[in-house]
Amino acid sequence: MATVLVTGGTGYIGSHTVIQLQKAGYDVVIIDNLTNSKEVVIDRIESISGCRPVFVKADIRDTQTLESIFNKYSIFSVVHFAGLKSVGESAALPLKYYENNVSGTVNLCQVMARNDCKNIVFSSSATVYGVPSSVPVTEDFPTNPESPYGHSKLMVENILKDLQQSDLEWRVRILRYFNPIGAHSSGTLGEDPNDIPNNLLPFITQVAMGKLEKLLIFGNDYPTPDGTGIRDYIHVEDLASAHVKALAKIHVSNLPIVFNLGTGKGFSVMDVLKLFEKVTGKKVPYQITSRRPGDIAEYWADPTLAEQTLGWQAVRSLDAMLKDSWNWQQQNPHGYSTETV
Ligand code: NAD
Ligand code: WQD
Repeated sequence: MATVLVTGGTGYIGSHTVIQLQKAGYDVVIIDNLTNSKEVVIDRIESISGCRPVFVKADIRDTQTLESIFNKYSIFSVVHFAGLKSVGESAALPLKYYENNVSGTVNLCQVMARNDCKNIVFSSSATVYGVPSSVPVTEDFPTNPESPYGHSKLMVENILKDLQQSDLEWRVRILRYFNPIGAHSSGTLGEDPNDIPNNLLPFITQVAMGKLEKLLIFGNDYPTPDGTGIRDYIHVEDLASAHVKALAKIHVSNLPIVFNLGTGKGFSVMDVLKLFEKVTGKKVPYQITSRRPGDIAEYWADPTLAEQTLGWQAVRSLDAMLKDSWNWQQQNPHGYSTETV
């Protein structure tokens, strides 16, 4: 059975992907330094899949540990999630982001090359497009990220493309995620922000739980039908399945490298809020406030390329995404930590 190294595999998207990789028959080795996740995720993965992945607590910048993993296991491909992802923090601490996300990936690729493992699926982001000139966004739109985080993603994309150009044995798939939300249907895996959430869904679920007082809606004066920002929300389980599809075709040499992963549909903040209230029966107090600097009025994906080339499609509705996010939040009021208050 082929073994896949999943970097960042205890994180939000990585953990959901590990389950689906196991279901597809892969053996999984996870490397994660736990800067933004908890080891208990490994237990949760085992409870769901019945199979405990190998877990190595280490940083992808730690060359020796990476080498020892490649020596011990016959790794056929890497699925590379490990990275820091806070747009705001990246503006304050750009070097931290370049060091972790870019240098970390360079180190990973060097170890891969030395060990003759040249297949990689990389977590990129729709943030690399910056402000798109129109919607939906296709993969050939210009890239113009607006934060050090976005720059770090685009730099890694370019490094991986250069690698594939330089040596045809490299097989690179770059997946640009739109807005991942939702949680595992069991309610035992989900998004667990360290602090007050920056993203819309964890904020809404924490308000609904009574942990936060109200949702602040960042602007209702955008040129959208209800004035609030529009995004392409995608269920984390749909996102996970795209990685399995990308791996299944990793050996095909003439495939495109970059794929958008979204549903192709946009929903406004107000749409999300109202539907959340409807499917959960919970009232979510909110207040309209000023726009958040750097926010874009609207964007959503054209996911046709992934559909036609990888045979992948997002199948879960916004309804299901919101129900699953709420189920996770209710079952895990403190995320993965064991606090009781
Ligand atoms: P996450 O923070 O939950 O998972 C990332 C994991 O990587 C964490 O477990 C963290 O501990 C680990 N990690 C970070 N730096 C590391 C390092 N140097 N060495 C080892 N482990 C390290 O984030 P996520 O939401 O699951 O995102 C996964 C990937 O997808 C990230 O690369 C992120 O940039 C990208 N992405 C996320 C979103 C999103 O909205 N969640 C959108 C687009 C792209
Ligand atoms: C969604 C909408 C907000 C919070 C971010 C990153 C992006 C990618 C995905 C990693 C917007 C509004 C939000 C709140 C609000 N991550 N909102 N009140 O900004 O589209 O994308 O996550 O790659 O790089 O930038 O997602 O969930 O923060 O915001 O009104 O408290 O909700 O203005 O319209 P965003 P988000």
